[in-house]
Amino acid sequence: MRIPQPCGPLSEGVVRALTAEPTGPQPVGLPHAVSDLDPLTDRDFQLALWILYELHYRGFEGVDPDAEWDPLLIVSRAALERTFEHALRQLLAEAAPADELGHLGDDPADRVITALRRMTVSEGPSEVTRFLERHATVEEFRGYLAERAVHHLRESDPHSFLLPRLDGAAKVGLAELQYDEYGSGRPDRLHQEMFARGLRSLDMPDDVATYAEQAGGETLASVNVMSLFALNRRLRGAALGHLAAFEATSSLPCDRIAKGARRLGLPEAVADYYEEHVLADAVHEQLAIRTICGALVTDEPELADDVLLGATACLTLDGLAGQVLLERWRGSRRPQRSHPTRAAG
Ligand SMILES: [Fe+2]
Ligand SMILES: [Fe+2]
Repeated sequence: MRIPQPCGPLSEGVVRALTAEPTGPQPVGLPHAVSDLDPLTDRDFQLALWILYELHYRGFEGVDPDAEWDPLLIVSRAALERTFEHALRQLLAEAAPADELGHLGDDPADRVITALRRMTVSEGPSEVTRFLERHATVEEFRGYLAERAVHHLRESDPHSFLLPRLDGAAKVGLAELQYDEYGSGRPDRLHQEMFARGLRSLDMPDDVATYAEQAGGETLASVNVMSLFALNRRLRGAALGHLAAFEATSSLPCDRIAKGARRLGLPEAVADYYEEHVLADAVHEQLAIRTICGALVTDEPELADDVLLGATACLTLDGLAGQVLLERWRGSRRPQRSHPTRAAG
């Protein structure tokens, strides 16, 4: 995969560091540059972090594979991660999920399971999926797929980093869930590949760099947070809480999106990806909340707050990314003020 086009000083610094000749990776001048931006929404910040994370997945054409563990780049990644995590914790402190735990009984696993259920049930069907089901045009639907592609073309890969970080029932539960995500033994049912097939059926590219270049900062943040949690072992509780919230809020929305694809007469491959998730994620919800998060907190009760932090991060960041899409769609449908005579006539 080619490296995405940078869009500001931070991503330019990362791309320059990765493609430096002949001396190889260079430090990226980050701490000064990040002082004035909102790391949860800034596209340049999130693209820089996304490129650094991608070194741990498939890497880039023309970039030395050794860059993955280049000490200077790891320092740069850690600086971006610290800023990202700090902003995230500040935002999530307002939601204060940990405060709810005290009212939910004595058993830490039961408390976390109950809290996760409450948080995800109260989400309800999102306006984004309602819009896709009933109102979106083909262009708007394609725009949605393009925005989600940064996630779905790498779907489930962050969570594979968690397997060696777990034990017992949580490990077994996650392996079972990942087996489904990776196609249950069938390469053609690999979820990443099913999504890519949907893109190709619409003559859209299936390389993730194209979509990383277009995605908003909020979308990149919602994707990067999974790598932040999964690649830092101390945040494994947050990673699994994120997974639980994601799976528990996926089945019904996928049903709506599939109906939207069918309403628009899009190729079968588009609805196929979403219909696969209607049943699968109803099962994954139970697996992720009860089997995985319940077992993790039984084994490591001190991670209970982190599990809820991760779940809140998922709902909050996905909500922010969805809000941007809704505003884009609403904006494109507002009457043009620059043509008052036509509007009046
Ligand atoms: Fe999936
Ligand atoms: Fe799933």
